[in-house]
Amino acid sequence: MSVMAFHSVAGVETIREHFPALRRVHHGRPVAYFDGPGGTQVPHQVADAMRDYLFHHNANTHWRYPTSHETDAAIADARQAAADFLDAHPDEIVFGANMTTLTFHLGRALGRQWSAGDEIVVTELDHHANVDPWRALTRDRGVLVRMAAMRPDTGELDWDDLARQISPRTKLLAIGAASNAIGTVNDVERAAALARGVGALVFVDAVHHAPHALVDVGALDCDFLAASAYKFYGPHMGLLYGRRERLAGLDLPKLEPAPADPPESLETGTQNHEGIVGTAAAIDFLASLGGYERGGDRRAALQRTYLALHERGQALVERLWDGLRAVPGVTLYGPAPHRPRTPTVSFSVAGFTADQAATALAEQAIFVSSGDFYATTLVRRLGRAQDGVVRAGCACYTTEDEVERLVQAVGALVKQRRERFDTPA
Ligand SMILES: Cc1ncc(COP(=O)(O)O)c(C=O)c1O
Repeated sequence: MSVMAFHSVAGVETIREHFPALRRVHHGRPVAYFDGPGGTQVPHQVADAMRDYLFHHNANTHWRYPTSHETDAAIADARQAAADFLDAHPDEIVFGANMTTLTFHLGRALGRQWSAGDEIVVTELDHHANVDPWRALTRDRGVLVRMAAMRPDTGELDWDDLARQISPRTKLLAIGAASNAIGTVNDVERAAALARGVGALVFVDAVHHAPHALVDVGALDCDFLAASAYKFYGPHMGLLYGRRERLAGLDLPKLEPAPADPPESLETGTQNHEGIVGTAAAIDFLASLGGYERGGDRRAALQRTYLALHERGQALVERLWDGLRAVPGVTLYGPAPHRPRTPTVSFSVAGFTADQAATALAEQAIFVSSGDFYATTLVRRLGRAQDGVVRAGCACYTTEDEVERLVQAVGALVKQRRERFDTPA
């Protein structure tokens, strides 16, 4: 099945044709975008769908005229697309501004069920969008947030420490499925089993995971899961999955005339309809790479797509890792390529802050991110609080040539610096 599936999925050159941004030239060179973990480029299908909605179907919801009906239908279709994407039911899909806003909102509602002495467990690997919304409950409700350690030598979760942090007082385990800073993929199922053992709920931050692995909320055994469409080729939008009975049980802050039942009861105010349409178009785009056509089996097509993207990502990450490791003065962070990881590689270059290295690479039309990417605790634990790390993320449009360009450019940076400082005055 693996070989068949691989061959039926579009090749990287075909994929690239869909992305107008890839035609950009900077300082005479084609731009190599390695900034996907901060937000991927967008295929024209997504922008076309958003434009079509705004020009021809734009309205508010639930009124008695065609554009309003069309808007209701578009949102319902998008819920179905997101449900296929996560293997959930459309009633379990909530749209919102972004993952952070949705998580604060969910946290406020869950917090109403908790009181002083209750505990939430997060991890050092997490983006702070999966830490600080829970910490806010310390001030509001007296809830204690415990943090399970990461092992800085491997960039992986310290499972013994996670087991120590989880106790009968734990009400929620909030865990990232994958680290946006160093690419570590957590065994969420295993962590969820620990949480279930003490009767705790499980919230999964799948923002960095969803572009690289097809989420299956049932297999992860989570109660809630959040993702962001702009990380998987969509517009700047967030989505939240909540198990039906969990959403129904939430004590939500709401406007008196607003809908009382989930998922709409979680969607405060007028939604970003064009963003919702664009989110569905991004899911359809991913499915189309696996052969999906309207009316077909979207989930099966997504499975084919992700299988192929995973294999390509693994090959790219191996080359990137090995290439950078061979450059003197480069330090790599996070799990080695054979460990569970996404194709997101972070590193530092001796003699350069992360910002300096990223600025120099941008001169070569290689766009990488630098800093801590809001994974502040993790980057501090790596000893890089001051200078940050450089992050290079591979996406569905990344080529082997681009990876080679990046490796060569980092090598050239190091060489230039040596020549400058080793030359006698
Ligand atoms: C792993 C992870 N979680 C959460 C977030 C926050 O997502 P959003 O920008 O949608 O609030 C990000 C954003 O970079 C992320 O990478």
